[in-house]
Amino acid sequence: MAKFNRYLITAALPYANGPVHIGHLAGCYLPADIYVRYLRAKKADVKFIGGTDEHGVPITIKAMQENISPQDIVDKYYNIINESFAEMGISFDIFSRTSRPVHHETAADFFLKMYNDGRFEEKESEQYFDEVKQVFLADRYIIGTCPNCGNEKAYGDQCERCGSSLSPEELINPRSALSDAVPVKRKTKHWYMPLQQYEPWLREWLLEGHKEWKNNVYGQCKSWLDNGLQSRAMTRDSNWGVKVPLPNAEGKVLYVWFDAPIGYISATKELTPDWADYWCREDTKLVHFIGKDNIVFHCIIFPAMLKAHGGFVLPENVPANEFLNIEGEKVSTSRNWAVWVHEYVKDFPDQQDVLRYVLCSTAPETKDNDFTWKDFQDRNNNELVAILGNFVNRTMVLMHKLCKGKVPPFHTDVKDDKDDAVLAVLQNAKQEIEDALENFRFRDALQAMMNVAREGNRYLQEKQPWILAKTPELQEQHQALIDNCLHLCLQLTANLAIFCNPFLPFTARKICHMLKVVDRMLEWENAGSLKLVSVGYSLRPPELLFKKIEDEQVAAQVEKLRAGLKPSSTANAEPAAPAAASAPAAPQKPEIQFDDFAKLDLRVGTILQAEKVEKADKLLKLLVDIGTEKRTVVSGIAMHFRPEEIVGKQVTLVANLAPRKMRGIESQGMILMAEDNGKLVFVNPAEAVSPGSGVS
Ligand code: MF3
Ligand code: ZN
Repeated sequence: MAKFNRYLITAALPYANGPVHIGHLAGCYLPADIYVRYLRAKKADVKFIGGTDEHGVPITIKAMQENISPQDIVDKYYNIINESFAEMGISFDIFSRTSRPVHHETAADFFLKMYNDGRFEEKESEQYFDEVKQVFLADRYIIGTCPNCGNEKAYGDQCERCGSSLSPEELINPRSALSDAVPVKRKTKHWYMPLQQYEPWLREWLLEGHKEWKNNVYGQCKSWLDNGLQSRAMTRDSNWGVKVPLPNAEGKVLYVWFDAPIGYISATKELTPDWADYWCREDTKLVHFIGKDNIVFHCIIFPAMLKAHGGFVLPENVPANEFLNIEGEKVSTSRNWAVWVHEYVKDFPDQQDVLRYVLCSTAPETKDNDFTWKDFQDRNNNELVAILGNFVNRTMVLMHKLCKGKVPPFHTDVKDDKDDAVLAVLQNAKQEIEDALENFRFRDALQAMMNVAREGNRYLQEKQPWILAKTPELQEQHQALIDNCLHLCLQLTANLAIFCNPFLPFTARKICHMLKVVDRMLEWENAGSLKLVSVGYSLRPPELLFKKIEDEQVAAQVEKLRAGLKPSSTANAEPAAPAAASAPAAPQKPEIQFDDFAKLDLRVGTILQAEKVEKADKLLKLLVDIGTEKRTVVSGIAMHFRPEEIVGKQVTLVANLAPRKMRGIESQGMILMAEDNGKLVFVNPAEAVSPGSGVS
């Protein structure tokens, strides 16, 4: 800690072309907020930067679809997003927007400095152009007939029916998804950053210098670097964005991934005249919180930009999370398979901390994870209500009943080992939470906090002050024991407020209110103290911290999800497809030799039977004919297909995969699927072939 004197914490700027969902929260906003609240409690000098990303293709497309201006789109969603974060207690120091003048100026200056220092290559290339809409078209926005399967709605980068990857040139009868016009090729000039030049430096700074980064982040960066970096265009043809600050650059704007991360700098400028202390001094710890689809931009491209520009600190860490799925399926905004934050806060008023708790305890820190409403209910009812809420409530109720509503004194003459153990519990928890938070292990930190409440319940159960109170003849002797127990439980309660504050800020404040202490008590240095509430103080009546979530509420949410789901065909008609349009494809896996490939025994089979697997929502049990024999295969596709609709389909089977038992059924192979933004498609031959045909 000593090395850094101030912290600059950023959370990815969401595109202002839709509301935020709980996957966004779990992926980066919640962990960032927990970290920042912890740092503030430690009285660190910290700035928490956020805002919306208001440029880029997805926004202009959305505007065209809705027939309004891009400005209208971003105004609308800025407000919704800003409100959602505020309601959930995401405590940005500033929530800015990349459409603000300070940002346009900052980003343009950044570009110009790089330009003047000779950091760009100017190159001409040919790109598809829509003459009706007068825009250049990304591959995703060109549709036509698939040369492999005849699907008339294949995209210029991929056919969703047969799964083959395509280029616009291969499409038969290509049309613009925006106007239906036939796209024409046009020459266009752009400024490229030769990223390969930064490769040796990136290897040293990142691969050598930051081995402590999370495995998922480090691994992805290594794979990008091992595959070799290439020049990347840093400008685009568009009239929405930051104008390229050069003469003769009419109709050119900065590439959205060039301007957006500079948004962190502009927002800091907007926040404080001391912005340069945060951005330009080596003793600042810069941490970017992001989701995994942003890794390359924050770990490779933006650092290379900062390096090329010069004078800025580099990120000290980029603790990216993986994705959160919903009820077993990938979140898809176009199919409306998502839990929207602005709807959650309406459906569960005053229950922000429940969502914060559930998302933190199931955060996809090391791998994709699943959110289900049932789990949400269970964690609320069995953990928040039954453990944390219960401990605090019992403490308050008993204190009012057995100690006249005042903080009882502690009588050292009757103190015992169990009382001493309470102090140890607090000290250990403090250390454990600190270690976990400083290493971005938020789930572990949350567990350590809950363990304090568990210990509290256990202590109360061992001491049983309510039993002691039942023997009036021993009143005097017992009152001292009752006092000691509740005194410690109250101190524990106050400590729980400090510990839970980063995770559950609303709850922490409710506890402070009941204990009649000011919020300043929540400062981290107070953690572990047994003097947080003063003897003789009268406290407020208890109020419940959490309430039970009923089966009906959960059922209603699941129903809402299913009812709101748009069929994938409508989703296909929308060319918004944000991932494909705005992010590069996942990095390629490390190279293999032909021999590695030849080990795979792939065969075409026909599905003869399909049925649901009992008590497993996601699994289907299939019987697949591969010519020489019939194989039983258990496949996790039940959320995507009804059994009856897939009988008779041809599929490709990995026939020599070691058998595996799932739910007591032995699965004898695996079926290949293509996946597009959460939608699954069978990988099968373009024409029917006889079962058992080999694939090579
Ligand atoms: N808008 C991007 C996304 O939602 C994130 C931009 S982060 C920034 O994926 F650094 F570029 F701002
Ligand atoms: Zn096809």
